[in-house]
Amino acid sequence: MKNLVRMRTSLKEEVEAILNDQIKMEFEASNKYLAIASWCDRNGYKNSAHYFFTQATEEHTHMMKIFRFILNLGGTSVTPDVEKQKQEYSSIRECFETALESEIKVTTAISKIVAAARQVNDYATEQLALWFINEQIEEEYNARRALEIIDLMEGESLFAIDQELGSIRESAAQSMTNGTAE
Ligand code: FEO
Repeated sequence: MKNLVRMRTSLKEEVEAILNDQIKMEFEASNKYLAIASWCDRNGYKNSAHYFFTQATEEHTHMMKIFRFILNLGGTSVTPDVEKQKQEYSSIRECFETALESEIKVTTAISKIVAAARQVNDYATEQLALWFINEQIEEEYNARRALEIIDLMEGESLFAIDQELGSIRESAAQSMTNGTAE
């Protein structure tokens, strides 16, 4: 029976498994950003909170994109468990360090999906994963740029730093368009 069910999908079991791992990772990223947004908001960093709320929504959208992709190909998407998230941070810098670390891990995981898809000539999954790779370039840039801003503005008021952090997305969009990510 299991084999018969699998014949209904072109997804190889190993690719389906790695995609389900990625669903979990995107869900965790979304929850992590939500926790960071909460910390930022509670500590007066309203612009940064807005950034992380938007990021949380984006990561949820990413999770759904893979979830639907698996189902559309006749596979089984698995609802990820909710993992406990760290709620307190020592500084705004730690928030963005956490973001950058998380994005780098996601990029590495997506690259593994590309490699797994290529091994079994699964071009549909490869195409999906390549879309994510492009997303990751921007998301890593955003977190890295935020850390640069925090460092460059050392000594300035936290209010001014938060104001500047509010413009990261515009700065990233400009860099991506020019093809000159700093
Ligand atoms: Fe969807 Fe930035 O990971």
